[in-house]
Amino acid sequence: MKTAFITGISGQDGSYLAEHLLDLDYRVVAMMRRSATQSVSRFAHIADRIEIVHGDLLDQASLMRLLTDCQPDEIYNLAAQSFVHASFDEPIHTGEVTGLGVMRMLEAVRLCAPKARFYQASSSEMFGKVHEVPQSENTPFHPRSPYGVAKVYGHWATLNYRESYDMYACSGILFNHESPRRGLEFVTRKISDHVAAIVCGEKDGLALGNLDAQRDWGFAGDYIKAMHLMLQQDEPDDYVVATNETHTVREFCEIAFGHVGLDYNDFVSIDPKYYRPAEVELLLGDATKAKEKLGWEPEVNFRGLVEMMVDYDLKRRIDQGATCQRGSLPEALA
Ligand code: NAP
Ligand code: GDD
Repeated sequence: MKTAFITGISGQDGSYLAEHLLDLDYRVVAMMRRSATQSVSRFAHIADRIEIVHGDLLDQASLMRLLTDCQPDEIYNLAAQSFVHASFDEPIHTGEVTGLGVMRMLEAVRLCAPKARFYQASSSEMFGKVHEVPQSENTPFHPRSPYGVAKVYGHWATLNYRESYDMYACSGILFNHESPRRGLEFVTRKISDHVAAIVCGEKDGLALGNLDAQRDWGFAGDYIKAMHLMLQQDEPDDYVVATNETHTVREFCEIAFGHVGLDYNDFVSIDPKYYRPAEVELLLGDATKAKEKLGWEPEVNFRGLVEMMVDYDLKRRIDQGATCQRGSLPEALA
């Protein structure tokens, strides 16, 4: 039985990856940081099948202690301050966790578990003000946020440790991936949750920022499979993971509101507070390498993703007794 060590278990990807690895018969050891409100909601359904340990990307000693104890075969470093907007408000903290945190993990691996295979959660946000369309593993980086800058640091640190110490270290350059477990602050989940609240009469509108931003959005449940595949290859390498389609925030709104028989124009307003000091206008990934070398393919398309998220946010309200006050319920929930 292989052992996997995951950081970021309380986040969106951590829970999907842990499920996938359990299905593959892994022993899963997962790190959480200490907080007053321990957030277990995303992995509560598998909590009795994984081993939760406590540590923090800010605390080098905790990482070394955990890896010494666990001696994993595979390490998935998913923990980060991952919200781009917040990185403008907390740039130093973001740099410490999302950038230097990777170096702390790499040092812990080098010193305490050097045979383990290491996955770093790199990001399409590193392409920022894109130098070419679509973006591949060879596209230069031009980050547009403290988060993007920190991810570039973590990305190059991973390559540097691979080249310097012959470590099996991979970077997955993942484009935006979403799900019903996405944080409510990210635009997709903010939209799906508001659509459901509007249908149930809890809210009357939705304030957003830049509706023209374009993203290559996929389903998190598909993307975590690519992480695992990267660590099963003969040689470590870096891969773009994307759907090869791009859509605007506006299109996301159109489909989400349309799914419940509403017109987004009647509900969406613009609030400049959601604009960013520098914006990433367009992301479109070229995942040819992941398809050819890993045999990876996304299964959920854009419309399927939007509808899955709206259905989830509606169903949890209906299950708690809410009723349809506006628009119409999708067929699956009617
Ligand atoms: P997420 O939902 O925001 O989860 C982030 C996780 O990091 C949470 O479990 C959080 O714990 C943990 N964390 C934050 N600071 C920490 C610290 N100092 N020490 C230990 N753990 C800490 O992110 P996600 O969407 O699952 O993304 C997973 C990774 O992929 C992140 O590195 C993200 O930057 C990267 N990524 C995501 C996407 C995407 O579209 N989702 C795309 C490309 C790359 P708490 O619950 O305690 O806050
Ligand atoms: N969050 C948010 N809230 N974004 C909005 C809003 C709003 O009200 N209105 C418009 N947007 C636009 C943002 O300006 C951005 O262009 C786009 O919607 C997507 O924003 P987010 O959902 O916050 O995601 P992101 O693309 O900035 O970052 C996500 O994807 C990265 C990969 O490219 C995060 O998951 C990062 O951690 C990840 O690395």
